[in-house]
Amino acid sequence: MLGAILCCMRPPLRKTPTTLKMARALLTKRQGNRLWNRVFGRYDATSLICRETRAEARARKASGRPPRLHHLDVHLTDHCNLNCRSCEHYSSISKPVFTDLSTFEADLTRLAGLFEGIDQVYLLGGEPLLHPQVEEFVRVARKHLPGTRICLMTNGVLVPKMGDSFWGALHETETILLCDQYPGVADVEAITALGAEHGVVVEFVQATEQFFRAPIDLSGTCDPQESFVRCTGVSNCATIKDGRMYPCAHIAYADILRERFDIEQLHPGPEDSISVHGDATGDDIVDFLMSPVPWCANCDYPALEYFEWGRTSRSIDEWVRVDGSGVGCAARGERGRS
Ligand SMILES: C[S@@+](CC[C@H](N)C(=O)[O-])C[C@H]1O[C@@H](n2cnc3c(N)ncnc32)[C@H](O)[C@@H]1O
Ligand code: SF4
Ligand code: SF4
Repeated sequence: MLGAILCCMRPPLRKTPTTLKMARALLTKRQGNRLWNRVFGRYDATSLICRETRAEARARKASGRPPRLHHLDVHLTDHCNLNCRSCEHYSSISKPVFTDLSTFEADLTRLAGLFEGIDQVYLLGGEPLLHPQVEEFVRVARKHLPGTRICLMTNGVLVPKMGDSFWGALHETETILLCDQYPGVADVEAITALGAEHGVVVEFVQATEQFFRAPIDLSGTCDPQESFVRCTGVSNCATIKDGRMYPCAHIAYADILRERFDIEQLHPGPEDSISVHGDATGDDIVDFLMSPVPWCANCDYPALEYFEWGRTSRSIDEWVRVDGSGVGCAARGERGRS
């Protein structure tokens, strides 16, 4: 009954602390899990996946149009030339990995057919300027995504060293150079001047003082729904890698962690990502991205913590909970998928 009432409520129904508290108090976990996405899933101003209301989704589906994807991340490299502590993409502990241009093109071609459009794409990594074909990547991206806001996201280290052909490619493809500002890293003045000289829009991300860590709990006992709801709009960020769409970098690049620290459990399963080259429609992919996956049971988002940005010591506890019993999802009585 309560489900019916909540589902009939018209958007905008936002996830506020009050609505979340109300729903938690009134629903069992099982009811809540199913309802959560139906009520909150479609209309969430902070969602990086899809920003259409339930009413808009109904009207669009009735007209047979595919959905829009709000945001897409694509790595050009997995590795990096800067070593941030607890990098969410594990790039500070990755061996050199360069994305293959033809795989990238095949994936973007397919996505362009599955969605009515993609609002914005971040070409990143790792550090994308380390890829020797970075200019070809921005050209291919623009060819397949003519109306998309395309951003090349960098830590800024290499920007002053890039040549005229790099700036020419960004200018020609109207690609935005999106530059992070880590303490003492990017030369903001020089980069601003280079952008102006070459007619390239340069945007700076607000200066980074803090990073965060949502520890990986190897017990796999976290409440996937709880973690997923908390990460929406933060880490829940569509990521395409080798023909499969992942709900976040944590899962897409888990192999980096697994190989570095030799942890066999860190192996995402087939239900943790979805092929974009199979039968899935754009709506199937959006629905997949807006629901928790089994891997979310490893993600202790309720224990999210902030710390001052700094360099990595490459120790496992920057990503994985290793502090034993007494803390974590199991200690809180959560059972996750086990
Ligand atoms: C993985 S980086 C890749 C692009 C480029 N290397 C850079 O740093 O701008 C993409 C974004 O993720 C953010 N990020 C990575 N790990 C993070 C963490 N632990 N906490 C907060 N933000 C993080 C970075 O600050 C950056 O804005
Ligand atoms: S600059 Fe830092 S946040 Fe960006 S990929 Fe490199 S290590 Fe990660
Ligand atoms: S694993 Fe799940 S809960 Fe964790 S960041 Fe990814 S989508 Fe969010």
